Amino acid sequence: MKLTLEVYRQASPDAAGHFESHQVDGLDPTMSILDALDTLNDQLVRDGKEAVAFESDCREGICGVCGLTVNSRPHGPTPNMTACHQRLMSFHDGDTVRLEPLRSAAFPVQRDLIVARDHLDDVVQSGAWVSIDAGTAPDADTVLTTAEVSERALTFAACIGCGACVAACPNGSAQLFVGAKLAHLATLPISQPEARKRARTMVAVADANFGPCSLHGECAKVCPQSIPLAAVAAVPKERIRALRTDAHSANG
Ligand code: FES
Repeated sequence: MKLTLEVYRQASPDAAGHFESHQVDGLDPTMSILDALDTLNDQLVRDGKEAVAFESDCREGICGVCGLTVNSRPHGPTPNMTACHQRLMSFHDGDTVRLEPLRSAAFPVQRDLIVARDHLDDVVQSGAWVSIDAGTAPDADTVLTTAEVSERALTFAACIGCGACVAACPNGSAQLFVGAKLAHLATLPISQPEARKRARTMVAVADANFGPCSLHGECAKVCPQSIPLAAVAAVPKERIRALRTDAHSANG
């Protein structure tokens, strides 16, 4: 199988970007898009040229670092699948495939296909955690939780923070990401004591760095973990709960 890869190149965060076109032969339809980039890089290195910089780690759809844009779609043509799982069988022999970094103002390009997703980390650091006393871990059954509640929490906990939702959103909103974190933690008993504070800080950090949500729904169409669009509703819901608590406290 032969493809023409049109790859975005940018030497550094401040450099101008451009596309380079490379023909890559000997590909197998079962290979992933990242495998095609590996093959291209072998070719570039053999020719004494600079390899294309891109991120990957697990290549199993777990870590979320491989996000890139394939033919204008975050991760690639197959819905709800990470780039490392996208197979070349989605293309035809002789096709041209355009590979770019995830596109969003919140994700500045660092080099070639690599972007900085620090603003997602900022949201997580601001409140997507639970404070517990250090010491022996409590037995799992000391806080009774129904299977239904656990399943609901796991649905939202599945978010791998790849950033595809932000890149797919015309507003550059991270509402699916933030909502997944809030919905996950708001569901579990252990995270209730900090729920209000968490909602306030996480939403404030997200508002400062990402665009607003206007319910386009493009985020859920590309999310490799199939986080349901219902997650976006968790953001106003948790924010209102926090405001109510604040008002209640102010009124004594
Ligand atoms: S490399 Fe880990 S999800 Fe793709």
